[in-house]
Amino acid sequence: MIEKKVLFEECKKARELACAPYSNFKVGAVVVLKNGELIHGANIENSAYSLCICAERTAIFQAYLKGYRKNDIEAIGLIGDSKKIVTPCGSCRQVMSELLDLKTPVYMFTVDGKELVQTVEQLIPFSFDSENL
Ligand code: THU
Repeated sequence: MIEKKVLFEECKKARELACAPYSNFKVGAVVVLKNGELIHGANIENSAYSLCICAERTAIFQAYLKGYRKNDIEAIGLIGDSKKIVTPCGSCRQVMSELLDLKTPVYMFTVDGKELVQTVEQLIPFSFDSENL
């Protein structure tokens, strides 16, 4: 299990990778793998705003592109610089519900040290999934 302090520091490093010239709101995310590997993600924006992608999804998609799957993932962390803790948007929650185990902890930090931990299932109860199709 990764130490929370280490995850916090890695999330801050991930945040520096953000490309957020429109919102100026940088978010970092880190997928923690059970093998100890850390996969960093950050939000990347576009002038066609709807094409912006959140930090959480860039990290999760990278993990999948490296061949990892939900059973390889121990946790995910994210961080933003705001008074209120940054919680994942609805799209990221849906992606988390399918690409992470529902019991996976989601660590949410602010750069000034506030934190909240919830499982994916707590963030998106009764999620739509393949069994609903
Ligand atoms: N954003 C994230 O990357 N993750 C979140 O959990 C919330 C929002 C990004 C999207 C956009 O680039 C910027 O923050 C402002 O919404």
